[in-house]
Amino acid sequence: MSCDIAVYGLGVMGSNIALNFADHGLQVAVYNRTPSVTREFVDNLAADQAITACYSVEELIGALSTPRVVFLMAKAGRVVDLIIEQLGPLLEPGDILIDGGNSYFQDTQRRWTQLREQQIRYLGVGISGGEEGARHGPSIMPGGDPAAWPPVEDMFRRIAARADDGEPCCRWVGEGGAGHYVKMIHNGIEYGDMQLIAEAWQLMRDGLGMADDDIADTFTEWNRGPLSSYLVDITADILRVREADGSLRLDHILDAAGQKGTGRWTAADALETGVPLTLITEAVFARVLSSMKNERIAASARLGRAPVDAETDRAPLLAAIHDALYASKIISYAQGFLQMREAAGEHDWQLAFGDIALLWRAGCIIRSTFLDDIKRAFDRDPALPSLLFDDFFADALQQAEDGWREAVMLGIRQRIPLPAMSSALSFYDGYRSAVLPANLLQAQRDYFGAHTYRRIDRDQALAWHTHWTGDRAEVPVDE
Ligand code: 6PG
Repeated sequence: MSCDIAVYGLGVMGSNIALNFADHGLQVAVYNRTPSVTREFVDNLAADQAITACYSVEELIGALSTPRVVFLMAKAGRVVDLIIEQLGPLLEPGDILIDGGNSYFQDTQRRWTQLREQQIRYLGVGISGGEEGARHGPSIMPGGDPAAWPPVEDMFRRIAARADDGEPCCRWVGEGGAGHYVKMIHNGIEYGDMQLIAEAWQLMRDGLGMADDDIADTFTEWNRGPLSSYLVDITADILRVREADGSLRLDHILDAAGQKGTGRWTAADALETGVPLTLITEAVFARVLSSMKNERIAASARLGRAPVDAETDRAPLLAAIHDALYASKIISYAQGFLQMREAAGEHDWQLAFGDIALLWRAGCIIRSTFLDDIKRAFDRDPALPSLLFDDFFADALQQAEDGWREAVMLGIRQRIPLPAMSSALSFYDGYRSAVLPANLLQAQRDYFGAHTYRRIDRDQALAWHTHWTGDRAEVPVDE
């Protein structure tokens, strides 16, 4: 039989995607490096599906109709290169190779360029939604060779999640590594959202002394408003899971966060390209700090922390925490979109920001009603320089501001670390400051390193230097 698509890699994500393709009427061939995994998959999970098991790559490629479409679901990194090396000699010009893993976008860019020489059409496709999404409808962010997309577009739109208006969350993102880049930003935003929710939780639990059930109910209530999102929803659910002895399961989970690297890539890319992606970067550092568990235990014994009573004026503070979460989230997305704007310029990608928001409305981890507001903002002005210039978001920030400050002060009074909420507030205050104290930084740089400065009252093309330690005379400097 001639299959429509081959799925290479039958981990949780690969097997669920294979089942999803099969559910939608596609003939699927599957292969895993370990034959017993393939056998187990077709005998159990895929027992009712017309899925063709292959036990060698030759068999896998031979099972496909032409042009061949091979979908890889492997661990990001060297493994993907090894698989490409293995498949390369078996593929023919015009065949389509798709990497659906969480690959680093620069790797995708490199592989796309390399495979173009062999006339193999390469796609780097970001897929979000975890195992549930892979099985029943993920959000799909395709990039790579534009000529590879039309032949496979229908297959991917069939398996994608659908937003409430019925539109599949799957649209062409851009050339080369653009799909994986947008997936990377998605994951960075995911880190930010998660950290913000964790901070709100600690403010409620430790700052206000709220009971677990009350916190769960609060998240459930918030999930009906502008904060409505998958992550808030699962948080409420997590806060209701108890051990046999009645204690909260969450309280038994080690407070050391793991990370596979996509958040770190997002932050590193921001530093590289010079985008002030402060919230996501703080979220990455918060995970790093959390993982220093033993050192934190030692420091808590050495440095202590004066005990403070939880605060009792609950209702207004709870509203303040809500507003802080909402406002910080706006800042995080504004920063993420700023970074994509920068990347679009740098890599010459035509990123349609409104469409990216649409892609994230369903299926993915950051899905939320908020993304419809972002789409509407880009509909109002496709060239919007920043979400913060949109009236809807500017008004929302203004309305949330007092509560946001109050919540950050609650954290300060209660010794609760709020790296995401407080850095978001600092960004907001900095971004809307026509004047910042960076003139002092420039003077200091000029003082110790003769790095020069510009003057606001003269032609800013001209550089100046002051003999700070001598006669304090100011001289023009040729650059
Ligand atoms: C998704 C998730 C997915 C994965 C993260 C977890 O969109 O489905 O983002 O890609 O769960 O990679 O990342 P960390 O292990 O870094 O938290």
